Amino acid sequence: MLVLGIESTCDETACAIVEDGKKILSNLVASQAAMHEVYGGVVPELSCRSHVEDLVPLIDQALIQAGVSINDLGLIAVAHAPGLVGALLIGLNGAKALSLALGIPFVGINHVEAHLYAAIMSNDHSPSYPCIGVVVSGGHTALWLMKSLGDYELIGQTVDDAAGEAFDKTAKMLGLPYPGGPQIEKLAQNGDCKAFAFKSGVIKGKPLDFSFSGLKTAVLYSIKPQDKAEIELTEQKKADIAASFQEAALRDVVDKTLLAAEKYGIKDIVLGGGVTNNKRLRALFQERGRNLNCFWPSRELSLDNAAMIAGLGYHVYERKGQRGDNYTLPCETRLPL
Ligand code: KG4
Ligand code: ZN
Repeated sequence: MLVLGIESTCDETACAIVEDGKKILSNLVASQAAMHEVYGGVVPELSCRSHVEDLVPLIDQALIQAGVSINDLGLIAVAHAPGLVGALLIGLNGAKALSLALGIPFVGINHVEAHLYAAIMSNDHSPSYPCIGVVVSGGHTALWLMKSLGDYELIGQTVDDAAGEAFDKTAKMLGLPYPGGPQIEKLAQNGDCKAFAFKSGVIKGKPLDFSFSGLKTAVLYSIKPQDKAEIELTEQKKADIAASFQEAALRDVVDKTLLAAEKYGIKDIVLGGGVTNNKRLRALFQERGRNLNCFWPSRELSLDNAAMIAGLGYHVYERKGQRGDNYTLPCETRLPL
């Protein structure tokens, strides 16, 4: 079955055609990063306008690149949660309209679940369930016990910022452009990760929860100490701050994943979200989680994309007994798995 995937949760419009949940025939992303860069973050109103402009031409392109006709589609899968409400509405209403016009079903997909599915889709063999799911993105940082595809128990989550958000905010403090994650990674290569004794937060009684706000404040004070005038931020110092921040944030993700793996006696780890692009994160898992089997998303599936939406859509449709969603399906800005 050919599935059209639509993604418009935040600042990327994306469309993809995927066959039977795995084979990617096309996977297109219209990124708005350059437009938002001047504001140092996503401006929701601008994001919505771009989604409106980009969605239909992108669907056309996805069909052309896949070499299929719109009438060959069997299902439409659309990310309907979580995200910016205006942005979600555009993708969801586009999917509903196309579903009605073509007389084919549509299913709403949880974007965060799709980030986990991206890793499953990227690997030839499947993880053994139960496994641990780790999402480190710009909007989410959480750990799940994945009992099967579609059956998840939340076992840890951030109490404040998401990991990607902490990267973006740290980058902003260092005067780097948005999105900051890749910029911090690049700058960190020239820095000493031991230069600053930064630490991620530990939540009392909840060892698998995350907190990055203290780390962010520590970065701020390293740039603007409370008791002194602003200090000179040399290129070397910036690189040292980036490296020390990155090490503290990523080690925390690895430590808590290892703790979860030990607690539940699990070896297979499925990772998703934009921060999985970070090479230091992958190296730390290799170094410290030698007895684990890590399932990483391919590079094209780690950032927001519609192939993961289409791929998961195929399984969600099967899970629902080959039934699509109702046209009353709302979009949700927050939705747990
Ligand atoms: O999964 P994603 O594309 O969007 C959300 O669902 O949020 O993740 C985007 C986030 C941004 O915060 C970005 O700075 C971060 O992923 N990111 C990185 C890297 N590449 C992207 N963070 C650290 N290192 C990277 N190489
Ligand atoms: Zn995402």
